[in-house]
Amino acid sequence: MRLSCIGCGPGDPELLTVKGIDRLKAADIIFGPTSREGKQSIAIGVVEKYIDREHQTVRALVFPMKKDKESLVEYWKKNAAEIAKSVYSGKNVVYLTVGDPSLYSTWAYVFKELRESFSDIEIEIIPGITSMFSFAAEAKLSLAEGEQTVGIIPACYDIERVRNTASTCDTVIFLKDGRYFGKVINMLPNAGFSNDSLVTIAQDVSVDEQKIRTSELRELQQVTETGEKYFSIMVVKRK
Ligand SMILES: C[S@@+](CC[C@H](N)C(=O)[O-])C[C@H]1O[C@@H](n2cnc3c(N)ncnc32)[C@H](O)[C@@H]1O
Repeated sequence: MRLSCIGCGPGDPELLTVKGIDRLKAADIIFGPTSREGKQSIAIGVVEKYIDREHQTVRALVFPMKKDKESLVEYWKKNAAEIAKSVYSGKNVVYLTVGDPSLYSTWAYVFKELRESFSDIEIEIIPGITSMFSFAAEAKLSLAEGEQTVGIIPACYDIERVRNTASTCDTVIFLKDGRYFGKVINMLPNAGFSNDSLVTIAQDVSVDEQKIRTSELRELQQVTETGEKYFSIMVVKRK
């Protein structure tokens, strides 16, 4: 009884590993996360061209986008139980996730629940190209050289914690929710970033809708709302 979690990469279906495609094609049941009932799963959308809908069952599992952990636990348990039921029925099962499974992924919660309640299921995790590495390739940007340090920070939580972490890094990668980038940009001078620090913001990396722009921090200082959407990345490099 084996379950494979496949990291599907940032959006371009060609940025999937050969192993990921093999497991996907061999699957009887394909699960992917979505934030609400009836909404298309982004991860399933990424790999749609490899799915044979006539012979494979595709199911989106709901993981609401909430910060309150307590109300989410029941979804993690319910989804893990549904995946386990499919595995116990003897089917080949895969779980899809955007980017890599180890970075801010719903997979982390599913994995914990499976380990706790269905520990006899053998689990394979297939890595994926993360959004930040795809971003670096598209922006033709080196994230770190020599002794430079890099921090990965979710932008949508406590701004003081964001400032503390950013102040110790040469390069900071902000993920999770472009709608918070304006607030973060205004904080950057307090984290020791000078006005000529380079800020690159991208949204929808690796797909047709991709947008990337680079500015000096001084050009963005008066901005409170950058207009970015959830699927955005911001990278700031200290000068
Ligand atoms: C829940 S996290 C998932 C991260 C993912 N596991 C990874 O390895 O990149 C979602 C965040 O990842 C970033 N992200 C993922 N794919 C992206 C893309 N194609 N373009 C821009 N940002 C992306 C955004 O910051 C988004 O808010």
